[in-house]
Amino acid sequence: MQEQHAWSGRFSEPVSELVKKYTASVHFDLRLAEFDIEGSLAHATMLHKAGVLSDADLAAIRSGMADILSEIRAGEFDWRVDLEDVHMNIERRLTDKIGDAGKRLHTGRSRNDQVATDIRLWLRAQIDAIVPLIGALKTSLLDLAEQHADTVMPGFTHLQVAQPVTFGHHMLAYVEMLSRDAERMSDCRRRVNRLPLGAAALAGTTFPIDRHYTAALLGFDDVCHNSLDAVSDRDFAIEFTAAASLVMVHLSRLSEELILWMSPRVGFIDIADRFCTGSSIMPQKKNPDVPELVRGKSGRVVGHLMALIMLMKAQPLAYNKDNQEDKEPLFDTADTLIDTLRIYADMMRGITVKKEAMRAAVLQGFATATDLADYLVKKGLPFRDSHEVVALAVRHAEGQGVDLAELDLATLQGFSALIADDVYTVLTPEGSLAQRDHVGGTAPAQVRAAIARQRQLPA
Ligand code: ARG
Repeated sequence: MQEQHAWSGRFSEPVSELVKKYTASVHFDLRLAEFDIEGSLAHATMLHKAGVLSDADLAAIRSGMADILSEIRAGEFDWRVDLEDVHMNIERRLTDKIGDAGKRLHTGRSRNDQVATDIRLWLRAQIDAIVPLIGALKTSLLDLAEQHADTVMPGFTHLQVAQPVTFGHHMLAYVEMLSRDAERMSDCRRRVNRLPLGAAALAGTTFPIDRHYTAALLGFDDVCHNSLDAVSDRDFAIEFTAAASLVMVHLSRLSEELILWMSPRVGFIDIADRFCTGSSIMPQKKNPDVPELVRGKSGRVVGHLMALIMLMKAQPLAYNKDNQEDKEPLFDTADTLIDTLRIYADMMRGITVKKEAMRAAVLQGFATATDLADYLVKKGLPFRDSHEVVALAVRHAEGQGVDLAELDLATLQGFSALIADDVYTVLTPEGSLAQRDHVGGTAPAQVRAAIARQRQLPA
């Protein structure tokens, strides 16, 4: 016999098997089960307080839900595609267990406000897991920065050697990005943490509900103040996915650098074997698989952002079934981000820095040319003239195959009579670094101060 749907009364023929499968979401939204039960229990408690549910009904709902929760946790719950989604699966099981009290649970509620509530509860828990994981990754980068507050490396623009920086300073750039990422997550949480329940299908309900009470029970900071908006918008999910995309984009940049630095041609770092794999054909290979995958997965998360924003575009008010498509991209975004943050914090502890190779690269690229120009400016030459003088000196050194610091004083003075033998202190990488001694600069003392500042910030 054809199983009756919760809404079958109005229909003269059953849906086809294909339509049933096409419209069902239980195979993915069962992930919301625990939040669905939490929301239902708060709703029932509120209905009881409002005098809509009896003591006996509330008690039955509570004990029925407790049993269902254990069945789900034990993997014994029989999820049925013909019951469409997580909400109807749980409600049916409750009704099978406790009878009419189970059927009363849906009073003053719709799946539209129910699902919006479930997603918000789920997403809030994800954000609460993600923020400390960003903090842990920051700590791992700060530890590395601290070990290398004095380690010289070339800073690049256009991927050409530009000026000396410290490896610690370079790591701190990512710490700053991650700090803003954590801020964005926490900011997004404020808008996630509002209660849709009470909006019912779209227009509210005729029952004497107390939405602020339900909100308090569920730990929401506020209620959604318009019922049509409450059931229909998914901007909070888009915002989260945008914030997650930025984390992934930041990590894709770091990944790209790790990959480049580990290339034998560059040889700045080594990544611990446990994050690399070999080749099935080339015995010499050690590939930086983890950073490569992070770089790849960043595209996947940004793709989810596109999917969600296009899902929302041009949807008329209020709820439309389109919104059922919000879950898979959202779930995968959180899963991918959480796994990436976990692995990354560990991987950064497995980085070996090859200081000699970094220093040698600084010495090859005329990285202190700007320091020589600044030196001449301090001796009174206008910057544009000084730039020209140094360009000529660089050309000469390049022709000789030596660094600026390797030119003797007489040769340097041939480019400008302002040059004296104190010039060599600014031409070394260490001299160059030491002079960039201001907030946000790369002088080792500033790098240490920036690390201390970051360590004091709330996680
Ligand atoms: N499974 C649906 C979703 O994820 C639940 C809401 C269904 N509401 C409806 N009126 N069909 O959006």
